[in-house]
Amino acid sequence: MQCFKSLFTDEVSVAQPLFSLDGQSLITPQSVSNRFPSPNKDNETERLRIAEAEFAIVINIAMQRFAAGKDLPDAVRWLIGQLHDIRHKYGAAVWQKLIPLIQAHPSAKILQQCPFTRWSFEKPRGYSGDASLIDFIYGHPAVAEEVAKSTLHGLNIFEYTINAPGPVAVRERRDTLTRYVDETAARTGSGTEILAIAAGHLREAEASKALAEGRLKRWVALDQDPESIGSISRQFQGTSVEPINGSVRGLLARKHQIGTFDLIYAAGLYDYLTDKVAIRLTQISMEMLKPGGVFLFANFSDEMADDGYMESYMNWELLQRSEANMRHIANSATENPVDNTVWFGANRNIIYSAIRKLS
Ligand SMILES: C[S@@+](CC[C@H](N)C(=O)[O-])C[C@H]1O[C@@H](n2cnc3c(N)ncnc32)[C@H](O)[C@@H]1O
Repeated sequence: MQCFKSLFTDEVSVAQPLFSLDGQSLITPQSVSNRFPSPNKDNETERLRIAEAEFAIVINIAMQRFAAGKDLPDAVRWLIGQLHDIRHKYGAAVWQKLIPLIQAHPSAKILQQCPFTRWSFEKPRGYSGDASLIDFIYGHPAVAEEVAKSTLHGLNIFEYTINAPGPVAVRERRDTLTRYVDETAARTGSGTEILAIAAGHLREAEASKALAEGRLKRWVALDQDPESIGSISRQFQGTSVEPINGSVRGLLARKHQIGTFDLIYAAGLYDYLTDKVAIRLTQISMEMLKPGGVFLFANFSDEMADDGYMESYMNWELLQRSEANMRHIANSATENPVDNTVWFGANRNIIYSAIRKLS
C-alpha cells in the first residue's frame, strides 16, 4: 500500500467558507456534524489515521482507473460509493477532518475537470447550490457553453456525476413541482396563485401546461439572488410569472406583502436551513396559504448516496433529513397537523412533505 502522506500535495487547500446569504440559509460543518453523529467519540486521532489509510487505498485504485482511461464514468461511480461508505463508517468528526485532505489530493484536479464538480467547488456566485449549478443537473442550454469548455476527461466524469442518484432525484423533483402546479391549477381554476420560495431559475415552469395555456393568475418566484431573478424576468416576460428579489429573512420578518396562495413550495432550500428556521418558515408559509391550499417542501434525505463526494470534491454541504425530521418540522409548524404527507422520491435520495391547510 502506498503511504498516505505521499499521495497528498504539501499544499493543503482550505475549503472555501460557506456564505450566509441572508443569514438564514447558513449551514456550517458544525450544523452538519450535529445531525450526523460520530459512532464513537473515543480514539478520534486513531480513527482519523485509519480513515486516512482507507481513503489512500480507495484513491489509489481510483487514480489507477483514471490513468487507464477506461470507463471513467464507472470509476467515478465506484469512488462516489466508497466516499459515502467512509463518511458513514468514521462519522462526522473524522469525516470533517478528512475533507480538506481529499480536497488537496491530486485527484481533485482530475475530478474538478467535470464542469458540474468544478462549478460547485469554485462557487462563482459566492455561495453553495446556486441556480446555475442546478442547471448542470437539468442539462439546461444556459450552461452549455460552460460544459463545452471542459476537457474530454471532464466530460467523461460529468457523464456519471450528472446521472448519480442525487441529480436523478433533483430532476424528478423539478417534474414533481411542475405536476403540483398543474394539478393545483386544475383544482382551483382561473384564480390560481402559486409561490415558489428560493425559485432559482424556475425551470419547473418550462414544462407547465397551466402556465403555457394562461391558466394561472400569478406565479410568484422569490429568490435572494438578483441574477436568478433577472433570468426569470427575461425568460418569462409576458406570462403570469412575477419574479421578486426577496429572502427567507424577509419572509420571516413579513417584509414581503405578497398576499395568499393556493400552492407554496420550496425545493433546494430546506437543505440549508436549521430546524429552527425551517419550522418558522413553514409556519409563515402556512399563514400565507388560502384555505385548502398546500405547502410542499423537499429536502435531500439521509439515505442519499452522493454525500461524501459532494462534501469533499464539490465542497457542497447539505443538511440531510430523515422521515422523522420532516414530520417534526411539519408537526411543529402546524397546530392541527392533519393532512400532512411525507414521502420519498423514487430513488429515496430526496424526501418531500406536503401539508394541506384545512378549509
Ligand atoms: C439549489 S437552488 C434551487 C432552485 C430551484 N428551486 C430548483 O429547485 O431548481 C437554491 C436557490 O435558493 C436560493 N436561496 C438560498 N437561500 C435563500 C434565502 N435565504 N432566501 C431566498 N433564496 C435563497 C438561492 O439563491 C438559489 O437560487
